[in-house]
Amino acid sequence: MAFKPANNIQDLQYFGEFGGVNPSISDSSTYTFLSAKTMFDTFEGNADGCYLYSRHSSPSNLYLGEALAAMEGTETANVSASGMGAITPTLMQLCGAGDHIVSSRTIYGGTYAFLKNFTPRFNIDTSFVDITKLEAVEAAITKNTKVLFCETVSNPLLEVADIKGLADIARRHDIKLVVDNTFSPLSISPAKLGADIVIHSLTKFINGSSDTVGGVVCGTQDFIDALRNVNDGASMLLGSTMDSLRSASVLKNLRTLHIRMQQHSLNASYLAEKFEQDGLKTVYPGLASHPSHDLFKSMMNEKYGFGGMLTIDVGSLDKANELMEMMQKKNLGYLAVSLGFYKTLFSAPGSSTSSEIPEEEQEAMGLSDGLIRFSIGLDADIERTYQMMKDCMEELDILEKKAVL
Ligand SMILES: Cc1ncc(COP(=O)(O)O)c(C=O)c1O
Repeated sequence: MAFKPANNIQDLQYFGEFGGVNPSISDSSTYTFLSAKTMFDTFEGNADGCYLYSRHSSPSNLYLGEALAAMEGTETANVSASGMGAITPTLMQLCGAGDHIVSSRTIYGGTYAFLKNFTPRFNIDTSFVDITKLEAVEAAITKNTKVLFCETVSNPLLEVADIKGLADIARRHDIKLVVDNTFSPLSISPAKLGADIVIHSLTKFINGSSDTVGGVVCGTQDFIDALRNVNDGASMLLGSTMDSLRSASVLKNLRTLHIRMQQHSLNASYLAEKFEQDGLKTVYPGLASHPSHDLFKSMMNEKYGFGGMLTIDVGSLDKANELMEMMQKKNLGYLAVSLGFYKTLFSAPGSSTSSEIPEEEQEAMGLSDGLIRFSIGLDADIERTYQMMKDCMEELDILEKKAVL
């Protein structure tokens, strides 16, 4: 039967402490125990339903975690204070000194920097590979490899990972497939395709309001328990805990994710098609010209389209900067990093979100200077947006002005 992630969110039922339709927000860092024995048992990790201390878990964080686990179809989930606060403990939990990671080379710059510059300090090394080439992925695995890491749709190049193919490789080598699904919530459900662990930066589409950072790790009960273990759990000990007030607000925003994703996808696919027809080098997984268009189609859930992210290449960084400044002036969006906002956000990844990646490596992976990454907004009138964007491009000679007859 088809997996329907938005139904799983819709079907959650909450009766707040006082019968409210929203769960009560737990405004406490610590919790009382009626008996000392229960406190001891809770430290030992075997007193279900008891709360200890909010860095470990809190009712509000558990509600949000359960909703996200329902969305991804995993047993459970652990929310964190940021997307990086979900990625870094997961990798530190799975790997120790001497271990090895195989990662896609096109990933968010912060994750890249963590694997390239930070984990080597703990003697954890990473091989970066072209994730679209399964043979190259498998060839990079060594006897020390513990994790295969990728983004479903990569930041910023929008390469698409073959999750089923990667899961097969991971199974064969007895390693964990960890997938960052930040760019494709609802559209693709990696755990249903064989991923062991699914991560999101909630900061982006899921929260959708650009008013907080947040993250989540979705996985098995065993793995999430391990992350939260008071003695050696990386989430518990590294301490990237989401605040309860925030998790309550993210949970409320999650409820409209399906409607927002539909509109983001509709608008992005309209613009991508127009830009491509105008002769701009456009990358969008929904375009037939995208090298992984069919792969995306084969993995996607019904209804949510190909997502809100697209890139165009306008030839040079100067042109990219001029265009972004003009579009901001004309109120077409904001020159800002991040994604998933109701307004369009645009940035030149080479000099911003991917600037951690050295220039030669950017070039090797096709991250050109003139690339602009768009997170397309919820614009009610996308035809008007397109016309205005086209006017900007004509004014800057990115597109040729067509003579009006
Ligand atoms: C794909 C992806 N993963 C993870 C992150 C990190 O998330 P956060 O900024 O919430 O720590 C980002 C942020 O840009 C991202 O784009």
